[in-house]
Amino acid sequence: MPLAHMALAPMRWSDGVLLVLDQRELPAREVWLGLQSAEDVAVAIREMAVRGAPAIGVAAAYGMALAALRGDYLAAADACMRASRPTAVNLAWALDRMRPLWGSSAARLLEEAQRIEAEDVAINQAIGRHGAALVPQGAGVLTICNTGSLATAGHGTALGIIRTAHEDAKAIRVLACETRPRQQGLRLTAWELAQDGIPFAVIADSAAGRMMATGEVGLVVVGADRIAANGDTANKIGTYSLAVLANHHGIPFLVAAPTSTVDSALPDGASIPIEERDPSELTHVDCHRVAPEGCPVMNPAFDVTPADLIGAIVTELGVHCAPYDFSDLGR
Ligand code: MRU
Repeated sequence: MPLAHMALAPMRWSDGVLLVLDQRELPAREVWLGLQSAEDVAVAIREMAVRGAPAIGVAAAYGMALAALRGDYLAAADACMRASRPTAVNLAWALDRMRPLWGSSAARLLEEAQRIEAEDVAINQAIGRHGAALVPQGAGVLTICNTGSLATAGHGTALGIIRTAHEDAKAIRVLACETRPRQQGLRLTAWELAQDGIPFAVIADSAAGRMMATGEVGLVVVGADRIAANGDTANKIGTYSLAVLANHHGIPFLVAAPTSTVDSALPDGASIPIEERDPSELTHVDCHRVAPEGCPVMNPAFDVTPADLIGAIVTELGVHCAPYDFSDLGR
């Protein structure tokens, strides 16, 4: 059955195998990968077949169940998945949650992974309800990357707010930033919005300032990969620029994330690890080199938006306003 006719979820468990929708192939092809070990899950996360902070966490939880079913050494399974991507703290959060179960049966680990997955959908629906109340009627809503069903267990965080606002007949129009270099906005968010019939247009990342200056944007809402105790937020590269632009134009700037994205051990964003990805993401388009041979490249995948640029942070608990203090929340 084509995916458009099914409840959208980026993975599902089937007969001892974790089936993952390969997000590198979307929207052109719906390819499902069958992951059979924690090592398979680590590769799928590193190479971004599965991506988005909450989805990475759910996949890692299933990875521990796979390892237990195979009788693999669980400490090694944990270590290899933990190291697969550094910025999204949901990965470590999910593995920490599985850890007390290492002495239990494989069935118990699987049950916990399924619980984490189901909870994530409920959490996103709560984020959607809290956040939709902040969406002005008829607003242009700008977002970046993909924070929808594909990036979570379902519904989404920032895109969950957009979905709920649309269901609430808020008559919104989404401006989806293309999200260079991997184009999650163009490929994935556009695909999800089209399936839900939510009015939208994709814009080049560099068009965001123009759109704000001309009054097309009434709200910016983004996701998060890690939120420090003071509210500093790491998210897809380009988010910080959007926050600066939004503040300059007096446009509300919201972050949406589950509390599993909060890293209360970090006092601020300065020590959030920022992933540096392969230069080929910039130098090549569709496997064709477009940059000169030997061209030096810097390719940080995330940036940190300081808390003072964030109007509110929406979690499943509600709407948090500045000054943020998440020292008792999350991991
Ligand atoms: O590199 P990606 O595609 O995994 O980055 C994803 C993001 O930056 C999302 O905004 C974030 O993970 C939140 S997804 C609900």
